[in-house]
Amino acid sequence: MCVESPMAPLTNLLLLPLLLLAAHFLTPSLCYVNQARSRAQRNSTETSAYRTYIVLVEPPPLNSDEDAHRRWYESFLPSTCIRNSREPCLLHSYVEVFSGFAARLTDAELDRVAKKPGFVRAFPERTLQLMTTHTPEFLGLRKGTGFWSVANYGKGVIVGLLDTGIHAQHPSFDDRGVPPPSAKWKGSCKAARCNNKLIGVKSLIVGDSDSDDYEGHGTHTSSTVAGNFVTGASVRGIGRGTSSGIAPGAHIAMYKVCNRSGCEESTILAGFDAAIKDGVDVLSLSLGSVSGVRFDRDPIAIGAFNAIAKGIIVVGAAGNSGPTSRSVTNDAPWLLTVAAGSVDRSFEAGVHLGNGKCIHGEALTQVASQTSKRYPLLFSEEHRFCEFEEYRSVSGKIVVCQATTPTIQNPRIRSIMAAGAGGVVLFNEESNGYTTVLQDYNSRVVQVSTADGAVLAAYAASSASNAVAAFTYNNTLLGVPPAPVVASFSSRGPSSVTPGVLKPDILAPGLNILAAWPPKTGYASGPFTIISGTSMATPHVSGVAALIKSLHPDWSPAAIKSAILTTSDAVNSTGGSILNEQHRKASAYDRGAGHVNPTRAADPGLVYDIGVSDYAGYICWLLGDDGLATIVRNSSLACTKLRKVKDVQLNYPTITVPMRTSWFTVKRTVTNVGPAATTYKVKVDTPKSLRVRVSPKTLVFSKAGEKKRFKVSVSCHKRHKHKLVEGSLSWVSEKHVVRSPIVAVPKVGSHAPAPWP
Ligand SMILES: *[C@@H]1O[C@H](CO)[C@@H](O)[C@H](O)[C@H]1NC(C)=O
Ligand SMILES: *[C@@H]1O[C@H](CO)[C@@H](O)[C@H](O)[C@H]1NC(C)=O
Ligand SMILES: *[C@@H]1O[C@H](CO)[C@@H](O)[C@H](O)[C@H]1NC(C)=O
Ligand SMILES: *[C@@H]1O[C@H](CO)[C@@H](O)[C@H](O)[C@H]1NC(C)=O
Ligand SMILES: *[C@@H]1O[C@H](CO)[C@@H](O)[C@H](O)[C@H]1NC(C)=O
Repeated sequence: MCVESPMAPLTNLLLLPLLLLAAHFLTPSLCYVNQARSRAQRNSTETSAYRTYIVLVEPPPLNSDEDAHRRWYESFLPSTCIRNSREPCLLHSYVEVFSGFAARLTDAELDRVAKKPGFVRAFPERTLQLMTTHTPEFLGLRKGTGFWSVANYGKGVIVGLLDTGIHAQHPSFDDRGVPPPSAKWKGSCKAARCNNKLIGVKSLIVGDSDSDDYEGHGTHTSSTVAGNFVTGASVRGIGRGTSSGIAPGAHIAMYKVCNRSGCEESTILAGFDAAIKDGVDVLSLSLGSVSGVRFDRDPIAIGAFNAIAKGIIVVGAAGNSGPTSRSVTNDAPWLLTVAAGSVDRSFEAGVHLGNGKCIHGEALTQVASQTSKRYPLLFSEEHRFCEFEEYRSVSGKIVVCQATTPTIQNPRIRSIMAAGAGGVVLFNEESNGYTTVLQDYNSRVVQVSTADGAVLAAYAASSASNAVAAFTYNNTLLGVPPAPVVASFSSRGPSSVTPGVLKPDILAPGLNILAAWPPKTGYASGPFTIISGTSMATPHVSGVAALIKSLHPDWSPAAIKSAILTTSDAVNSTGGSILNEQHRKASAYDRGAGHVNPTRAADPGLVYDIGVSDYAGYICWLLGDDGLATIVRNSSLACTKLRKVKDVQLNYPTITVPMRTSWFTVKRTVTNVGPAATTYKVKVDTPKSLRVRVSPKTLVFSKAGEKKRFKVSVSCHKRHKHKLVEGSLSWVSEKHVVRSPIVAVPKVGSHAPAPWP
């Protein structure tokens, strides 16, 4: 019947402020368990016998209301469970997103549920993890000018977030200048403040109706996507400026589905269900699972499918498991998957060495006086991780060490400073390279890159006892190159589930992002703070989606995604390659199509659209009828009636082909969303090793909404040892450049999923 062989364990996620991660997110890994085995291993204690299952059943008769759904679901549950007041049994009754419910059941009860007619299957649920003042300007958005005002700051659009709740009283959620929501909004708001900005707030966590944010994560992401303008925002004087979200005119609806313990899958599905019912336009998910989860066992993929079927665009974090290859999550083709990069801002702190060299570091705690007192510089392998038996020995010195897990390192830094040290320089571990995830140490700590750490270590070794250094602070510098740079933690492609669709999709700011923060949490004490993660990159793209939706309310989720991808920046502002954390050229697996460019995204010229039945045909190809039945709630869709769509033939705005010496052809269709009569000519950029033929080479449109098909054939001169070869194809008219990366990869196609038992 229902259960599964063990799968990859879940680990921590996206999230969290990376810094907090180590502290509380080491949750036990839950697996899909094989029932026979789990029974044998089962502990005899009463409580461990209950588990939350997400149960998929056949839908009730069409047009049933919520009560009818609940009665139908309850008919599956044993009467002992309904009557038992020990704890709630039916946790969530889904209406929009999934034909089924979540319930706390023993194995014996589940056996009985599974025998009822109408039962399809059950999943034991897992717990997932959650994985700015300057960023709008960095993305080319300026108050009162240009695109931001054309798009009316996202007015009228409702952005839903599944997150840790919201600190409603924060000034970022003032509703100055925001009109009331339109009549299509069906949601409700239960928070300390509800207004035209914050129109929906709801906790879906069973037994906890408090929607306030005790983690900070949900407040930060909400203000990034649609926070109102707040002047004088800063973190203790640094990063000072006017803070605002990317779509400051949009409405916010917060669905609290996560707390300190993480985000339970049944609760995430309940969040999707509520958001679809309420009528949001955009859904922003700064949370996720590990990579490699089949879409029919991934509540986010399932929830997102049913959201996009209702025209809601769903934006998800790529994950914080980089730079390891194949670490990307939220990788279903109907999701918009966001990688994290740096911005051109530095919270500058210089380390001046006795030999005249100056190293550019960063510090969130900027000491007011321009002090440049010199201290002896101390580095040795023995104390590489700031570990001293005798902390007194560091008194009056600047100590150099390699950054490690905050929970281990922070107490050591406190001991060093308490012993009277002049300061601490922390250099990045090798895999982080130039990605410095800033943490507020509230003391004289300067953070530097791996390379600068090596310079400091060499200087300390060569000058031995004469090595000296002094700190200077230059507060906040803007326009600091190179930027954007892909952050080391940002999860990388390819998707192991669907390598024929390029993931992640897009790069957006996610390193050291300043945004709203509740007054009291373990980490910082508001009203603004600086944290990092693909969690922070995601709401930037959700905000851009809201701006586009405001201008083009009738565009499908796939059309909005296409607009964002085909107009993204392939190079930085001076025409150089976008780099990765080692300052080497980033690949499409690091950054997707490119860096998000909101201004151009609003006017893409052409879009690659994908309808629900195309995605359904793709699911048939990948997972067959069982997969379709689980993911797609609409029972009138069946694989026998659908055209199967291979991964590489999905009308995706990026093009992935197998790396072959023979020609391989993919087909695409573009829709004219620009001026009626327009001619586009093809322009192909490829390395020598890739041959590309496009037919036809010219597309002539005579009306808006017109569709044109074309073919792209690709071959490689030889099989490369590289993991991918990259080029691009652009359709160029007088006003528009519609660019798609072409990526030749060693493997596309189905991963041959394990059959259901
Ligand atoms: C469950 O069983 C395992 C192995 O038999 C044991 O180590 C663990 O302490 C038990 N846990 C509980 C909650 O009884
Ligand atoms: C988080 O919510 C779950 C229910 O979803 C609950 O069991 C758990 O105790 C909560 N954790 C905290 C720290 O509040
Ligand atoms: C800090 O600013 C001063 C001038 O304002 C400049 O001379 C110095 O080079 C800067 N230091 C760093 C580390 O950027
Ligand atoms: C652009 O990228 C190049 C390297 O590809 C780098 O040298 C340059 O500084 C970058 N420019 C900016 C403005 O970041
Ligand atoms: C179900 O799919 C059919 C065929 O694509 C479509 O016509 C219908 O509107 C869908 N129903 C719902 C409720 O989405």
